[in-house]
Amino acid sequence: MKFFIDTADINEIRKAKEYGILDGVTTNPSLVAKVKRPYTEVLSEIVKEVPGPVSAEVISVECDGMLKEARELAKMGSNVVIKIPLIKEGLKAVKILASEHIKTNVTLCFNALQALMAAKAGATYISPFVGRLDDITSEGMDVIEDIITIYDNYGFDTEVIVASIRNPLHIKYAALMGAHIATIPFSVFESIVKHPLTDVGVARFLEDYQKIPK
Ligand code: G3P
Repeated sequence: MKFFIDTADINEIRKAKEYGILDGVTTNPSLVAKVKRPYTEVLSEIVKEVPGPVSAEVISVECDGMLKEARELAKMGSNVVIKIPLIKEGLKAVKILASEHIKTNVTLCFNALQALMAAKAGATYISPFVGRLDDITSEGMDVIEDIITIYDNYGFDTEVIVASIRNPLHIKYAALMGAHIATIPFSVFESIVKHPLTDVGVARFLEDYQKIPK
């Protein structure tokens, strides 16, 4: 299972990299807005910082505009993945970008049939938003399970990125279901390594080590 970090904050990305298990980054316009710097400047810095896939989202909502933006963003590096919203115009753009060997991450997916359409269009990745579904009392993780079943049924190569993660359990269930990737906010990324019994255990081993005759 691959771990991506869901942020546009270069400091968070650098800290996450220190764990040695970071596989990629996903961003979106809301995340870039938080860092209060120009859009392409932020994205190009991240693309250089991380060797793995970096998702950069288009702003246009019609196919031609998406293609223009996608081709520009793709010039930033071979690891750039173009994030495209799951709308009709987006599917058209994904199909054309796939024929140009430009990787895509189809975002704002909220059900399994949307994910099926994205895979048929040739999406490299699909991003179902589990937290936003949970927020409206819909089971986000059920959508992940359905997508994985459908993709397996037909042998689609599209990788499932579990997105809009709110807590460690989203990651646990994603792994149990065999999702390819979890894109994780920095605070959740830092929390999953921690267990109080691990900390107590480390402290006790250190204490007992001092009792060993030198
Ligand atoms: O990057 C897309 C996704 O992870 C957004 O999450 O927390 O805004 O629902 P959130």
